[in-house]
Amino acid sequence: MTVKDRIRMFAVGPDDPEEKNAWIEALSEAIDENSFCLGSKTEQFESTCQKRLGVAHAIGVSSGTDGLKIALAAAGVQPGDEVILPAYSFFSTASVIAQLGAVPVFVDLDVETLCICPQQVADKISETTRAILPVHLYGQTAAMDPLLQLSEKYSIPIVEDAAQAFDVKYRGRSAGSIGTAGVFSFYPTKNLAAAGDAGMVVCQDDKIAARVRLLRVHGDTGGYRHEMLGWNARMDGFQAAILSVRLEKLHQQQEVRRRNAMEYLETLTNLDLLEQVTPLGHTEGSDHCWHQFIVRVTQRDRLREQLSQQGIDSGAYYPSTLPEQGCFKSLGYRRGEFPIAESAAQTVVALPVHHRLAAGDPARVVEAIHKTVGVLAD
Ligand SMILES: Cc1ncc(COP(=O)(O)O)c(C=O)c1O
Repeated sequence: MTVKDRIRMFAVGPDDPEEKNAWIEALSEAIDENSFCLGSKTEQFESTCQKRLGVAHAIGVSSGTDGLKIALAAAGVQPGDEVILPAYSFFSTASVIAQLGAVPVFVDLDVETLCICPQQVADKISETTRAILPVHLYGQTAAMDPLLQLSEKYSIPIVEDAAQAFDVKYRGRSAGSIGTAGVFSFYPTKNLAAAGDAGMVVCQDDKIAARVRLLRVHGDTGGYRHEMLGWNARMDGFQAAILSVRLEKLHQQQEVRRRNAMEYLETLTNLDLLEQVTPLGHTEGSDHCWHQFIVRVTQRDRLREQLSQQGIDSGAYYPSTLPEQGCFKSLGYRRGEFPIAESAAQTVVALPVHHRLAAGDPARVVEAIHKTVGVLAD
């Protein structure tokens, strides 16, 4: 097996020399337009996203993490407030809450989808709950209808962590635009990927949007006047220029991801592997952009090692839960409190699903798993 034949987890960088030239041309235009921090390239990208997603406001920021912090602050989260979130996500879903001086209140997951469990959210709502932060994990949305009912009943804003779910619909509405605000990441491994860090906050409400716009530029209302504390969290014009080029091909690339995901499901079924290698369930009403194709297996780490030896990369997103991170020790959570998240951390495997896989690669991956599962069972 040559290095070239290895099946990689991600397709980072331009697809081919033609796309590379399109990036260079877009960067050259950004230089000519002096479009560096925000500027014309960011405005163009924001306007394209606004139309494509059907949202009133699309606001470019420096990363998904900064976008989450800003969106929570814009939704009114202040020191001492509680924010309810799933116990299982990328780290910054939780860290931004703590960095605002608020308290992350973790809840367990829906056992089928590994997204936040709405019933557990209901159980944790208190007088000091200031926001609910569902994560649209792996590229499909959380079950938003029951969360929206809670949001309405208790007047608590929802901020959607849609970092992994750009251009995904839930009952016809774009992920990110369903709650009070939503946040995307364009980190280089995301489906819509920048060549560095970038993110976006979307919302329908004009007042929230105005706050987000202020918070990304130090709270500056103009002329160096600061009515609120903000951050330096502007989108970089170079990233916006590249993102605009990439956005044109996104639809086509999503189709390839979908085809790859279907090939995985079909081959798993044909090889009668669904019980040992179990795909996640579907959130009713949600599309899927297949940011990750996830299966659950016992002996996950040994399986990954075996796959790697056969030239197949894989991922474990994520190998631990959020409450068990050392920096959240003071919150006093104990092992066993989040059984579904804890089990996910031990068993999930992400298989390569990106748009640069060759036809037949998913079947090759499943066949390698088939061989390995047999050996591991012995
Ligand atoms: C679920 C989730 N939330 C938040 C983030 C943070 O985004 P970024 O890396 O752009 O700061 C990411 C991406 O890494 C993510 O996957």
